[in-house]
Amino acid sequence: MSGATAKGLITPENFELFKQIVGEPYVLADAENLQHYGHDETEHLQYYPEVVLKPKSTEEVAAIMQLCNTHKIPVTPRGAGTGLSGGALPHLGGVLLSTERLNKIIQIDERNLQVITEPGVITEELQNAVKEKGLFYPPDPSSRGSCFIGGNISENSGGPKAVKYGVVKDYVLNLEVVLPSGEVIWTGANVLKNSTGYNLTQLVVGSEGTLGVVTKIVLKLIPHPKFDLLMLVPFASLDNASAAVSAIFRAGFVPSALELVEIDALKIVSKMVDSTAVPVNDSIAAHLIIEVDGNNIDVLMSEMEAIAELLTQFDAGEVFFADDAQQKAELWKLRRRVAEAVKTSGYTIEEDTVVPRAELPALIKGVKELGKQYGFHAVCYGHAGDGNLHIRINHPTIKNSHGSEEMTTALKALFELVKSLGGTISGEHGIGLIQKPYMHTVFKKANLHLMREIKKAFDPNNILNAGKIFDLED
Ligand code: LAC
Ligand code: ZN
Repeated sequence: MSGATAKGLITPENFELFKQIVGEPYVLADAENLQHYGHDETEHLQYYPEVVLKPKSTEEVAAIMQLCNTHKIPVTPRGAGTGLSGGALPHLGGVLLSTERLNKIIQIDERNLQVITEPGVITEELQNAVKEKGLFYPPDPSSRGSCFIGGNISENSGGPKAVKYGVVKDYVLNLEVVLPSGEVIWTGANVLKNSTGYNLTQLVVGSEGTLGVVTKIVLKLIPHPKFDLLMLVPFASLDNASAAVSAIFRAGFVPSALELVEIDALKIVSKMVDSTAVPVNDSIAAHLIIEVDGNNIDVLMSEMEAIAELLTQFDAGEVFFADDAQQKAELWKLRRRVAEAVKTSGYTIEEDTVVPRAELPALIKGVKELGKQYGFHAVCYGHAGDGNLHIRINHPTIKNSHGSEEMTTALKALFELVKSLGGTISGEHGIGLIQKPYMHTVFKKANLHLMREIKKAFDPNNILNAGKIFDLED
């Protein structure tokens, strides 16, 4: 673990004012809490805030921001702390603003197929609540059982369903945002079409808590599909598995999930969750997990058969169809827990590359070559249907990418490769703190200048999640 303790940014008077704003029990400055709120799921990084505040309402958030802006106190907003790029790490000390008490689903609007929610609601709970009404909010990050919808907005998260249904941005209609000044705005309107000025809603989505604190979210919903089918397909080579992905789409299929898991990752996760659901043997290099969904089961069956038939051209092994809800759940559990499992077993550095999907084989080949060149072992897994490949790196001595010159050089080479393939650094985890050094790889100075000017327009005192995504100065 690495990090720093910042002290003395907050005066005793301001501590008192915080207590007046949120109530004494929600102003935390004991060692245990400062430690807990000083890290998230990103690598092995730890930074200590000076205080943790847990507001319960928009008004309380606004009062906190106003006070911090006046006294130029750094504020780091945080959802559930499941982020993988360090967006919620309080690396400048100051205030850690937790959204966990902003945890109400305000209204499920069945007439308009919309939901209005606060940011501190667990994504899966939101999905379950709308599902009870027959409705579907598709974006489903692997951490959906613990992450907050607010964090998903900040990172523009995706997940397996994104391949058919799109990512978070495709569902956000309107946001209530507390600006760094303490002013409160709504970014748009609760409508499906909107050409009214600059799209501030979409600017805030994916802005990683650097432009404002989101306090209410209006999401579009769709009817929940009635059926889904799931199959697991083994391949003897990674090249064939990844080449098959784009062929599926070129043949006209639109799976509701198309995930790739390299065998080393599957071995690790199977062991961790003590599962024998998926055959693991030396002739298998990777699996594709393929799901289709819809309202006509016969159509889905014939689609699955046609996809399986197509995959024989790529030397696919014996297909395993998940027969019932339990088998499906088991397969998804294995897939969703890969990140956690491989991290625990030494693959501590995670990348979130994304390329046009037909370039996946070239990306995977390049990753393996870079591993040989820079002395690390990498496992690949992720949302192959979107060309979004998670790469987990196990280096014998370097366990953190942040601050390691050698790993920075290796990752720069990786992102140069990604760029040459037409891709970019992050598909769904964001830039946060740890990918910041690579923004120059994919953007010109003019791009970064525009981003910095936008940041300054929202946050002239640079108090809100400062030093995330980019620094204001080179
Ligand atoms: C996943 C997370 C790490 O796909 O994005 O498992
Ligand atoms: Zn993912």
